[in-house]
Amino acid sequence: MKIRTITQDDADAVRKVYELAFPESERDLVSRLAGELLSAAASPPILSLVAEVDGHVVGHIAFSPVTLRDTREPIGYLLAPLAVCPDHQRRGIGSRLVAEGVKQVAAMGAGVLLVYGDPRYYGRFGFTVDQGKCYTPPYPLQHAYGWQAMSLGEGNSGRPDVAIDCVAAFGHPELW
Ligand SMILES: CC(C)(COP(=O)(O)OP(=O)(O)OC[C@H]1O[C@@H](n2cnc3c(N)ncnc32)[C@H](O)[C@@H]1OP(=O)(O)O)[C@@H](O)C(=O)NCCC(=O)NCCS
Repeated sequence: MKIRTITQDDADAVRKVYELAFPESERDLVSRLAGELLSAAASPPILSLVAEVDGHVVGHIAFSPVTLRDTREPIGYLLAPLAVCPDHQRRGIGSRLVAEGVKQVAAMGAGVLLVYGDPRYYGRFGFTVDQGKCYTPPYPLQHAYGWQAMSLGEGNSGRPDVAIDCVAAFGHPELW
């Protein structure tokens, strides 16, 4: 298994990963998000990685920059989306995608990582719901318990209510 940076040529394969991995009710929304992140420009840049087995893309993860709503200062990254094809799940591929992405965004100077997903999965990497409570996402959350954060640097130095913005691809309330 190899993890590498995505290219435009991976777009169809990545869409397929989301179609296979997500339930029907969510797959269109999430594969559209992955596609929009692939073609979006951002500063600092979006990080998008694929996992490849025998030359086939079987997993994908993206990290996009998060900014302070009031000053637009970049403070870290949002991890989303993430998926591994069902027939390759539970072999550590998802964990390796997260670990490699965390390593790369930390090296890029990210102070905090945010994620909106199952704490039973993301907790193993160091994300906590408690840290997530310090950051107010751009839209109301359908599942408040899934909003988590992990400090990579100085974090938010204890500020209780930091309003953040994400890149335009996350500008759909139904994603939250
Ligand atoms: C979540 C996902 C990316 C994990 O990929 P993976 O390659 O199977 O992950 P790993 O092999 O590194 O880890 C598998 C472990 O995570 C657990 N796990 C997977 N999804 C989980 C979830 N939603 N909640 C809790 N645990 C979960 C598995 O039970 C397994 O546990 P084990 O190590 O004790 O056996 C994959 O299951 C997936 O694509 N799911 C559908 C899409 C999705 O939910 N994406 C995340 C959206 S936030």
